[in-house]
Amino acid sequence: MKKVTVFLGTPRKQATYKGVLEFEGYLRKHAEIEFEYVFLKDYRLEYCLGCKACFDKGEEYCPLKDDRDVLLGKMQASDGIIFATPVYAFQVSAPMKNLLDRLAFVFHRPQFFGKTFTSIVSQGILGGEKIVKYLDSMGEHYGFQVAKGCVLKTLEPTPEAVQASNSRKLEKAAARFHKELMRTSIPVPSLFRLMLFRIARTNIKSMLNPKYRDYRHYEEKGWFESGYYYPVSLGPHKKIFGRLFDLLGTRMFNRP
Ligand SMILES: Cc1cc2nc3c(=O)[nH]c(=O)nc-3n(C[C@H](O)[C@H](O)[C@H](O)COP(=O)(O)O)c2cc1C
Repeated sequence: MKKVTVFLGTPRKQATYKGVLEFEGYLRKHAEIEFEYVFLKDYRLEYCLGCKACFDKGEEYCPLKDDRDVLLGKMQASDGIIFATPVYAFQVSAPMKNLLDRLAFVFHRPQFFGKTFTSIVSQGILGGEKIVKYLDSMGEHYGFQVAKGCVLKTLEPTPEAVQASNSRKLEKAAARFHKELMRTSIPVPSLFRLMLFRIARTNIKSMLNPKYRDYRHYEEKGWFESGYYYPVSLGPHKKIFGRLFDLLGTRMFNRP
């Protein structure tokens, strides 16, 4: 059975939580799924100190000793992840942003290949669409397969038509998520993802050395030589574009 873990940036069991519960109901119509709800408010997560030890030396050198690895472990033990947050001042809530900051090292060394991600954002009036895009891009940078997230309108009292629209969005989002969750193979990357990988590795190879964790990680994983992060048949066009991106990366980092 697939396991899905929801990370909630809301301090309340109200609109965001209720939206995710409804999403769970729709998802369970497609398949039997184990769900876990993780309220970030219940975990101890200090603010990043900005030392970059996680980037340069490795995440185990982070001076903050708190629940970061408990939360990371929950992601690693899941097949699917949902980041759910209310809009606060046109952004994700502070606990959600803090989680993203503390896991920023995963952008350097993506690890969630083959796992599925989506976002559920609740807003009063405005700002949710940009946040869905933001969270979905975070999921991609972590290495997840991303099923586009959705925004719920929750201004109270919520008119019936708005409630019905929220339900339709959740139902469709659950179907998208289910499709990705049940994939049996990891898809070929888009040109954009391929470009990001090839430019990142050129950067790491030309700017860093084995003293840096990123460099050693790329070496250990064989990423300096591979076509992409994971074994995949790129096809003739993407192979050519891959070489062009390598060249582009070299030019970018050698330009004064
Ligand atoms: C501090 C704060 C800031 C908020 N900022 C926004 C905002 O910028 N845009 C918006 O549409 N709603 C905003 N809201 C409304 C919430 O996003 C909305 O009510 C949400 O559904 C609350 O989720 P919850 O019931 O899970 O707490 C804000 C609410 C709070 C408490």
